[in-house]
Amino acid sequence: MATFRLPKNSRIEKGAMYSCSDQHGLVRRFKIYRWNPDDGKNPRLDIFEVDIDETGPMVLDALISIKSDHDSSLAFRRSCGEGICGSCSMNINGTNQLACITPMASIDGEIAVYPLPHMEVVKDLIVDLSHFFAQYASVEPWLKNANPPLEGERLQSIEERGRIDGAYECIMCACCSTSCPSYWWNPDRYLGPAVLLQAYRWLIDSRDESRDERLDQLQDSFRLYRCHTIMNCATACPKGLNPGKAIGEIKKMLHQRD
Ligand code: SF4
Ligand code: SF4
Ligand code: FES
Repeated sequence: MATFRLPKNSRIEKGAMYSCSDQHGLVRRFKIYRWNPDDGKNPRLDIFEVDIDETGPMVLDALISIKSDHDSSLAFRRSCGEGICGSCSMNINGTNQLACITPMASIDGEIAVYPLPHMEVVKDLIVDLSHFFAQYASVEPWLKNANPPLEGERLQSIEERGRIDGAYECIMCACCSTSCPSYWWNPDRYLGPAVLLQAYRWLIDSRDESRDERLDQLQDSFRLYRCHTIMNCATACPKGLNPGKAIGEIKKMLHQRD
């Protein structure tokens, strides 16, 4: 039987152990993926013990405490701390999640933290999202309407506005795209669930006049039709959105247009 192994320089090694020296309360153990492109070493898994009575309740709070008390070189993204900016997406105990809204209490035992899967790692928990955002830009996620607005604003009825519910809330955290097997295998050609949800958001906006042009852009066996309705995306979305359903709606629009 064929055996497949990672290249030598990608194999994850055992890292350092950082114990909690001044323990007062409940201690949780974190296993964290580390990789530094500048030291020429293999990736490793460091173990950190954190007294969580001294931190906030979320995984991000523990990461911040690890960075300030144990190892200031630990790299991760974060900004809002409230599940709004999408920057703290990472893989926590096997699931892509936002660290700032993932309570430590929701996880039993050791907490394993890895970067988002199937992405190039920049350092530690930070992945390269340039291609993901270039794909986002490719669907031209802005209102396209050549006519001047009639009364200062482009008005919508309550019903028209309601149509974008479930789509406008997307924060482009990439939790869905990086949990989609179709995106893992074809990230260069398949747009992935997050970007397609954004494309859908503009397709159904009553104020937009580029529906046909947008659909032409999506009518492609890879860009759209690599979605095989596996629905990992809906399970992964920390905002409770359903990109798989939106992709189905885009396919329906194309079918009805033909
Ligand atoms: S439904 Fe489509 S986009 Fe969502 S995980 Fe499955 S293949 Fe990917
Ligand atoms: S659909 Fe959900 S998981 Fe995907 S990018 Fe948007 S907010 Fe994140
Ligand atoms: S820090 Fe903004 S979503 Fe987590």
